[in-house]
Amino acid sequence: MISRRLFVGLTGIGLVIPSSLARAQIRSNPFTLGVASGSPREDSVILWTRLAPDPLQGGGMPAGDVEVRYRVWEDAEMRRLVREDSVLAPEADAHSVHLKLNGLKPGREYWYRFSVGDYESNVGRTRTISRGAKSTKLALASCQNWQSGFFAAYADMAAWAPDCVIHLGDYIYEGGVSTLGTRQVSKPGELQTFQTVRQHNSPEITTLWDYRNRHALYKSDPSLQAAHAASPWIVSMDDHEVDNNWAANVPQDPWAQTQLEFKVRKLAAFKAWYEHMPVERPPTLSGIETSLQMYGTYRFGPAQVHLLDTRQHRSDQVCGSGFPGQETCVDRDDPSRTLLGTEQEEWLTNALKQSDAEFNVLASQIWMAPYRFSPVDEPARANMDAWDGYPAARSRLLETISNGVAKPVVLSGDWHCAAAMTIHADPNNVRSKPIGHEFAGTSISSDCGWMHEMDQLRDVNPHVRHLNARQRGYCRFDVSNLHWTTTYRIVDDPYNPNSVCRTDKELRTHEM
Ligand SMILES: [Fe+2]
Repeated sequence: MISRRLFVGLTGIGLVIPSSLARAQIRSNPFTLGVASGSPREDSVILWTRLAPDPLQGGGMPAGDVEVRYRVWEDAEMRRLVREDSVLAPEADAHSVHLKLNGLKPGREYWYRFSVGDYESNVGRTRTISRGAKSTKLALASCQNWQSGFFAAYADMAAWAPDCVIHLGDYIYEGGVSTLGTRQVSKPGELQTFQTVRQHNSPEITTLWDYRNRHALYKSDPSLQAAHAASPWIVSMDDHEVDNNWAANVPQDPWAQTQLEFKVRKLAAFKAWYEHMPVERPPTLSGIETSLQMYGTYRFGPAQVHLLDTRQHRSDQVCGSGFPGQETCVDRDDPSRTLLGTEQEEWLTNALKQSDAEFNVLASQIWMAPYRFSPVDEPARANMDAWDGYPAARSRLLETISNGVAKPVVLSGDWHCAAAMTIHADPNNVRSKPIGHEFAGTSISSDCGWMHEMDQLRDVNPHVRHLNARQRGYCRFDVSNLHWTTTYRIVDDPYNPNSVCRTDKELRTHEM
């Protein structure tokens, strides 16, 4: 637990230091988007900030690259200074800083701060990993629609200060402006109420300018800034960072744009994502094909996390887009269809086979366990955007993890519904061998408009141990060499930015 003093420090926006130095004609605080760290290794971490005195209008920086000073301390009181230097914030990257801090000690906390001219950022705390650690605490977050709720869950997460936050995407949403206020939806036997509590800053985003301003809008949230300042993050985008349900080079609505137009849009989305995330590598461009290296392995003592990219290399969805479930069709079973792509599938198979960790985590944007969206006397309906839409690829992966991979744990997001599930060797047959567990987080703030259907069909999904589609929040994982404990934290009121959080459910994998 971090102290209240530090928590206040972490959540504060940049402080102005009186000085005659006014460099680069920056006329107001450029540290409006906070600080962040990510991609923690035993000896390194990425430190991030972005200079943006006018964050919702392209940043508001004068032309040219800017030198940013940074200092790193070994203690929260900032007495033991271990690094002091400067790093470039390139204009071409929207004046974002991605500093790889090398030569650190494993399993240690560090505190850092940026400054430029007369301005100083808030203080961030980060932590390197340690392979040999006996325990670790990790948090899981996803799906944070700005409009449909506040981010109080992140304030609770920041106070807990995990070793790392795993974010599985839908960090921003690409849609336009909703009408403020209450909206009611009638479902058989219940009337659901949703609220739009704040508004997006533009119509649907498609250009680099739009994506930058949208990321900046989300990053302006003080609770989100606090969670970034409290812990390092590892991040992998899902669909809404670009376009709903996109797959490789196919947008949600291919009839509404040319493929070239979508590729240009994707490049803008990827570039803005890099500019706002504490990640090491920018997108690469080959001709007009852009790609981001998002998947990778991270070791946190007893847990080896395999962060997956289930969006960029997948075959297009098939059978139709019935929601929340679509009746299946023969195209779904085509063994050539892929979710991870050949290269990532090979990397994952090798990483899992070589792992000596007690727990092997698959951090997947989308649900791996099945969920049946029709009663037993009707043809099966499933979510074609999730692993359910890619059964051959799922079978290949489950075959790998059935063969000697220690304690597989799948983490997932996307569906705005908390669920603790058992994964079986034949995922649709609960009488087949249980081979792992899945913890789907709920959402930070995004609605689950299909919560009625989730509840109604709970009984035809007997592999589901815990289900809550009705509340927003995040997951905590306490992992030791022997035990994995998942705690579902939920916000009391998603429409109150200062809502308290509480524990909804605690589960241990050996008891599931
Ligand atoms: Fe989402």
